[in-house]
Amino acid sequence: MRPIHVGLLGIGTVGSGTWDVLQRNAREIRRRAGRAIRITQVADKDQKKARRLVDGKAQVLGNAFAVVRAPDIGIVVELIGGTGIAKDLVLEAIAQGKHVVTANKALLAKHGNRIFAAAQKKGVMVAFEASVGGGIPIIKALREGLAANRIEWIAGIINGTSNFILSEMRDKGLAFATALADAQARGYAETDPTFDIEGVDAAHKLTILSALAFGIPMQFSKAYTEGISRLTQQDIGYAEELGYRIKLLGITRRAQRGIELRVHPTLVPARRLIANVEGVMNAILVKGDAVGATMYYGAGAGSQPTASAVVADLVDVTRLITADPGHRVPHLAFQPDQLSATPILPIGEVQTSYYLRMRVLDKPGVLARITRILADLRISIDAMVQKEPPAGEKRVDIVMLTHLALEKNVDAAMRRIEQLPTVLGRITRIRIEALL
Ligand code: NDP
Ligand code: HSE
Repeated sequence: MRPIHVGLLGIGTVGSGTWDVLQRNAREIRRRAGRAIRITQVADKDQKKARRLVDGKAQVLGNAFAVVRAPDIGIVVELIGGTGIAKDLVLEAIAQGKHVVTANKALLAKHGNRIFAAAQKKGVMVAFEASVGGGIPIIKALREGLAANRIEWIAGIINGTSNFILSEMRDKGLAFATALADAQARGYAETDPTFDIEGVDAAHKLTILSALAFGIPMQFSKAYTEGISRLTQQDIGYAEELGYRIKLLGITRRAQRGIELRVHPTLVPARRLIANVEGVMNAILVKGDAVGATMYYGAGAGSQPTASAVVADLVDVTRLITADPGHRVPHLAFQPDQLSATPILPIGEVQTSYYLRMRVLDKPGVLARITRILADLRISIDAMVQKEPPAGEKRVDIVMLTHLALEKNVDAAMRRIEQLPTVLGRITRIRIEALL
């Protein structure tokens, strides 16, 4: 059979990995796909770099639209990133009747509904395995392997950069900025690394997972997002003492009145497998009603791990290219006319447990006033530690772990407690998940 011709847009970290894997494993991939998959055109802003990488084995262009419009290109692989030109290129590729493979979670989380509708209309595939969890085949697992289940919740470490930073801070005592610079040098971070450290990248990925799990449209704008930039060594240390690890988790859960969609630092019991996922590794727990909890683990970022997912999509698209469009796996796991309107819950309506750390004056009656406020707002304390103050010091840290409580009640309690004259400064609040 004639080889399928691929146009590669962007030959940076993931693009160069994709090129390498396709070259190295060409024979194995051909045996799997049923025909050869060849990148025949590459577009990159830096044509010199691109020429050096492809070494005469593909045509290099500076204009990505020329690749998208080339008549003999059957699949366009978008690895430029962002929501600017990448969006125009993907929509143009679809309009030209080309299949698309992308790793661009930002693009899908923000414009996925439009992109999938256009692809559906045109009868082309948009494959995006690399957009979540790097090399972990989590999209395929959700769309196909778990298709029998009613998904109850997903909780995952889905940003390699922030997990790498947390591990380096905890294990080596490295400063935040040093760990971030190392992650950037290894090619893990986004072009704008605030996306990684402020939870935005994880929220993009969670938006995609939530849509796949619950059959809802992409709703990135409704995701609650909190990053790791304000975490302190002190909280990491207190969490350890209490038997927890702090991880940046993306959590989406089917609750009674809607769907939770939230990214934030989370205390996870140290004995859970996911609490021990370190460095750039990602892990995603999916709880299905039939299968129970399942976990997917692997490298969440980096050139070749991500390329593994991009190339798997290329194989999938190649295999399905001749299939009737109506019988392909739906983009968002559920048939397009079966998406549900279940609302995303505002963060105030979320119910979970909390770690609250406050600095107070070491005087009689302080604790009684705090616990009174918590009780009035139906927040029950699960555990409490008062850290012994250094000699001569009148200020102490109190750390409380609560039972399940409604977030808006915790907000109200924090506001009242912070107004007490014996409470100094702001309360640090970190959510806790038992992940059972
Ligand atoms: P890079 O910045 O390393 O690569 C992007 C490439 O695209 C660069 O070579 C860049 O050139 C080129 N480029 C930029 N604008 C254009 C344009 N208009 N036309 C042609 N080429 C252009 O990014 P990554 O490879 O890291 O990321 C690519 C995508 O994969 C992103 O969506 C990212 O979120 C996603 N992703 C990345 C992972 C990772 O581990 N890095 C993991 C999973 C997903 P120049 O450098 O000259 O600007
Ligand atoms: N910047 C992302 C991360 C790349 O660190 O997880 C993988 O999507």
